[in-house]
Amino acid sequence: MRVLVTGGAGYIGSHTCQALLAAGHEPIVLDSLLYGHEYAIKGLPLEKIDLRANLKPLFLKYKPEAVIHFAGLTYVGESSVEPLNYYDSNVGGALSLLRAIRETEIVPFVFSSTCAIYGNPQYSPLDEKHPKDPLSAYGRTKWMIEQILVDCHRSYGLPFAALRYFNAAGASKLLGEDHTPETHLIPLAIKAALQGGLLKIFGSDYPTPDGTAVRDYIHVEDLSSAHVQALTRCDNLQVNLGVGKGYSVKEIISLVEKVSGKKLQVEKEARRAGDPSSLVANSALAKKLLDWQPRYTIEEIIQTAYEWHRKQYS
Ligand SMILES: NC(=O)c1ccc[n+]([C@@H]2O[C@H](COP(=O)([O-])OP(=O)(O)OC[C@H]3O[C@@H](n4cnc5c(N)ncnc54)[C@H](O)[C@@H]3O)[C@@H](O)[C@H]2O)c1
Repeated sequence: MRVLVTGGAGYIGSHTCQALLAAGHEPIVLDSLLYGHEYAIKGLPLEKIDLRANLKPLFLKYKPEAVIHFAGLTYVGESSVEPLNYYDSNVGGALSLLRAIRETEIVPFVFSSTCAIYGNPQYSPLDEKHPKDPLSAYGRTKWMIEQILVDCHRSYGLPFAALRYFNAAGASKLLGEDHTPETHLIPLAIKAALQGGLLKIFGSDYPTPDGTAVRDYIHVEDLSSAHVQALTRCDNLQVNLGVGKGYSVKEIISLVEKVSGKKLQVEKEARRAGDPSSLVANSALAKKLLDWQPRYTIEEIIQTAYEWHRKQYS
């Protein structure tokens, strides 16, 4: 299948391009390279263009048989400072993409959604029926796009799968997490282990067993394989992608210390705006509907991330 991958030069997008190739598909990357890396998509066709441009000519040129939509702005904190940029880029970008599909051919559409659409958990683990009350503009853009997809399904018959990721982490042999700036805990903790420096813990007074925030970490290759499965199973799907087990910030730090053999210097900071206390997935629906299983343990997630970062810093 010819698959247009928006944001394909980013962290999850580039891993998914590799999974698509391995499954015999043909990825075509659309990425502005605002945050993505050309090195991560070597040998693949790249259209360096912003989503909000007129994309109809690109659809007529490549005639994609499916679209996987990763591209977007992803910083929760920044979205509270400059919300208009997030609505413009994320919602405006999705509208531009969907309009091009509407004007050319209706094809299956897989969308990167997020557990940030749920807000503070009223129960845990979170299933897909949990109320949607995002705490940030970032989360609201993703929830809006999901609702736009439901309307496009009803009115145009768009087959779609909105995949609500919990925390992506880990690396493959060739690719890893390379965000600038980096805000995610595992790469920051590994960087502190490899290069020294303080690691900030945002919030130590959450209502969790050790007071630090709890998250469900899923390996990026497990996310990638879910996208490949979703391509042929799109049908008004909205599913969680997580492992179903939460780890606190302190637990992750201990695991990074164990893998690296280094003691990390930590500093306690106030909670970050928009960060819920705990986000753990119930992914039973995704397992059933996508015929998918996450394979990596938290130890393997941290080990693969550590190996990749060690090569970058050496
Ligand atoms: N990383 C996570 O833990 C996580 C969790 C939940 C959801 N998500 C979602 O998954 C997707 C991918 O996340 P990631 O961590 O790989 O992010 P990333 O920043 O590495 O990748 C996003 C890519 O989109 C491109 N992009 C951004 N705006 C664009 C635009 N207007 N036009 C064209 N290209 C544009 C960037 O250049 C980048 O390559 C995002 O939509 C994110 O919201 C990520």
